[in-house]
Amino acid sequence: MVITRRGVLVSGGAIAALSALPVAAEPQTVSPAADVAKSDGSAEPVCLTDFEPLAKKKMTPMGWEYMSAGAADEISLRWNTEAYQRIRLRPRVLVDVSRLDTRITLFGQEHAFPILLAPVASQKLAHPGGELATARGAAAADTTMVLSSFSNTSLEDVFAAAKSPPWFQLYMQRDRGFTRELVQRAESAGYRALCLTVDFPLSGVRNREARANVKLPPLPNLQGMKESKGASLLPSGLDIYTPILDPTVTWKTIEWMRSFTKLPILAKGVLNPDDAELAIKAGTSGIMVSNHGARNLDTVPATIDALALVTERVAGRVPVLVDGGIRRGTDVLKALALGANAVLIGRPYVWGLGVEGDTGVAKVVNILRREFAMAMALTGRTTIASIDRTVIWS
Ligand code: FNR
Repeated sequence: MVITRRGVLVSGGAIAALSALPVAAEPQTVSPAADVAKSDGSAEPVCLTDFEPLAKKKMTPMGWEYMSAGAADEISLRWNTEAYQRIRLRPRVLVDVSRLDTRITLFGQEHAFPILLAPVASQKLAHPGGELATARGAAAADTTMVLSSFSNTSLEDVFAAAKSPPWFQLYMQRDRGFTRELVQRAESAGYRALCLTVDFPLSGVRNREARANVKLPPLPNLQGMKESKGASLLPSGLDIYTPILDPTVTWKTIEWMRSFTKLPILAKGVLNPDDAELAIKAGTSGIMVSNHGARNLDTVPATIDALALVTERVAGRVPVLVDGGIRRGTDVLKALALGANAVLIGRPYVWGLGVEGDTGVAKVVNILRREFAMAMALTGRTTIASIDRTVIWS
C-alpha cells in the first residue's frame, strides 16, 4: 500500500484504506481535500497526541481532570511514555514488506490487529455519548473494547452497540453475591473475557481529582448495591477505603471466580513477575501488565519496563497484554517485541471520544493501527510472529 498524503487518515477513506492493510493494495493517491483544515481553523489531528489539546478544549474542566490525571506527582505517568521513547529499534532492510499480516487470536477470538481499548470508567465525563459512542467507534475501527464495570451505561446496552464481542472489566465488590451476579450478567450478555483489576484495592493519591472535586455520574452496573449510593472513589478525612472497592481481594478470590464462570479471567494490573506466577497458579487465563495508567501508586515503573520481566517469567504459559503510555505505532511494536501478545490504549481514545464521539475513537484507533503497520514494514517484519527481541536495539 502506498499512501501519499498523511491526510488519508482523516478522510472518509481512512477505514477502507486501513482494512486493506494486511494485503498488498494498488498504489493509492489521495485528493488534496483530505488535508483541508477544519471549519474552526484548527488542523485535523494526525497523531494520537494531537487529540489531547483538542479534547481539553472540548471537555468540561472536571471531565478533563478526571480523564487525564495521574496519581500524586505524576512521575509514573511521565515514565510510562518516556520509557518507550528511550527504546531504540533495530530494523532489517530489503525485506519484501508488500504484504503484512497483523491478525492475532486471543482466547479463541480473532483480532484484526493487536490493539484493544482499555477499560476507562465514567465515559460520560468525556462525551455525552459515553461508552455507547466508544462501542460504536470500536466497531467502526474493527477493534475490541474492554468495558469498565464503573461505566455510565449498562453492560447490556454497551454489548448491543458493539461489533466484536467486548470484554468486561471487574472491580470486585464487598458484596460477593452481587459480584457473582454481575459476572454472570456479563457472561450471559456475551462478553468474551473478564479482566479482574488487581491493582486497585483502594484509590491512591489523586490530587488533581480532589482539587477538581470530581463526581462520577451514575454507575448503572452497580445499581441495586446499597454501597453504590453516592459512593465516592475519594473518601475523606483519615479514611482510605471506599465502599465500592473490596480491599480483601486475594489470589484465592480468583479461584472462587473460576467456580462460577467459564469466561477467561485476566489479572489486570500486574507489574511484579512474582505476582504473574501467582496469577497463573490461581488459574488466570491471561495477564495484563498495567499500572492503571499511572493513576494509583506513583513512582512504580513504566509498564514497558516491567513487561520484559513478566513475559520472561510467564514464558508463554498464558497471553500477556500491556497498557500504559502507548502513543505511537512504534510503541505497539516495542511492546510486542518484548513479549506482549497485544496492547491496550486508554487516554488516547478518550481524547478522540471527547473531541468527536465515536468518530474520534475510530480515528485514534485507525491512526495507531496504521502507524503500527508502518513500524512493522519499516523494521522488516511482516507477521506478528516475526516481531521478537531482535527488533530492539540492545
Ligand atoms: C482508567 N483505567 C481503568 N482501569 C480499570 O481497570 N478500570 C477502570 O474503570 C479504569 N478507569 C480508568 C479511568 C481513566 C480516566 C483512565 C485514564 C484510566 C486504567 C486503564 O484501563 C488503563 O490501564 C490505562 O488508561 C492505560 O494507560 P494510558 O493508555 O491511559 O496511558
